[in-house]
Amino acid sequence: MHPSLITGALVLAALVCAVVGETHTVHFENFCGSGVPLLIQGQNVLSSGPDYTSTGPLDSVIAYLQIDSLCGFNGENCTLIETTLINVAPGNVGSLTDISLIPPHKFSVSTGFYYIDGCGYQGAVCTSANCTASSAPQSVLCQTDNLSLAMTFCAPT
Ligand SMILES: *[C@@H]1O[C@H](CO)[C@@H](O)[C@H](O)[C@H]1NC(C)=O
Ligand SMILES: *[C@@H]1O[C@H](CO)[C@@H](O)[C@H](O)[C@H]1NC(C)=O
Ligand SMILES: *[C@@H]1O[C@H](CO)[C@@H](O)[C@H](O)[C@H]1NC(C)=O
Repeated sequence: MHPSLITGALVLAALVCAVVGETHTVHFENFCGSGVPLLIQGQNVLSSGPDYTSTGPLDSVIAYLQIDSLCGFNGENCTLIETTLINVAPGNVGSLTDISLIPPHKFSVSTGFYYIDGCGYQGAVCTSANCTASSAPQSVLCQTDNLSLAMTFCAPT
């Protein structure tokens, strides 16, 4: 096969994969005027601000706003968002996102999230150290395929 045909076939295959594959995007909105949003999976920093798009499920990631080394690598001492974005399939319930202040986490800045491309922008926001004691749900399930998520810091309420 001519090299340009091979390249063409590869480009086409990549496009087809991009269109049919599972994908999820995380988007940050930081209104705090400082700090660096971090998206972390295990030991890997997936993003320090720009949108992050997964090919396939985005399993067990955390996020928080790092301000002058206040937070530990796993978000210790800071308001934490935990999420798994995954298309519903046998063996999982879909996407689940929550905000945690459970020690070693604690309130640092007002932190929220809302779903994009599914579940009508449902989400949650934690605006004070009291947020988990309120009746508002801090954990939100969504079962829309290829769901994306926005995370906000210091968003105007
Ligand atoms: C969404 O994910 C499914 C796989 O679960 C895939 O078949 C479908 O094409 C995807 N849609 C888009 C717009 O990426
Ligand atoms: C959390 O804050 C305490 C008190 O300032 C500090 O001693 C500790 O090292 C911090 N933990 C992390 C993981 O940064
Ligand atoms: C938490 O709630 C208590 C009692 O309602 C209130 O006195 C306190 O100021 C609140 N703290 C914050 C950080 O909002």
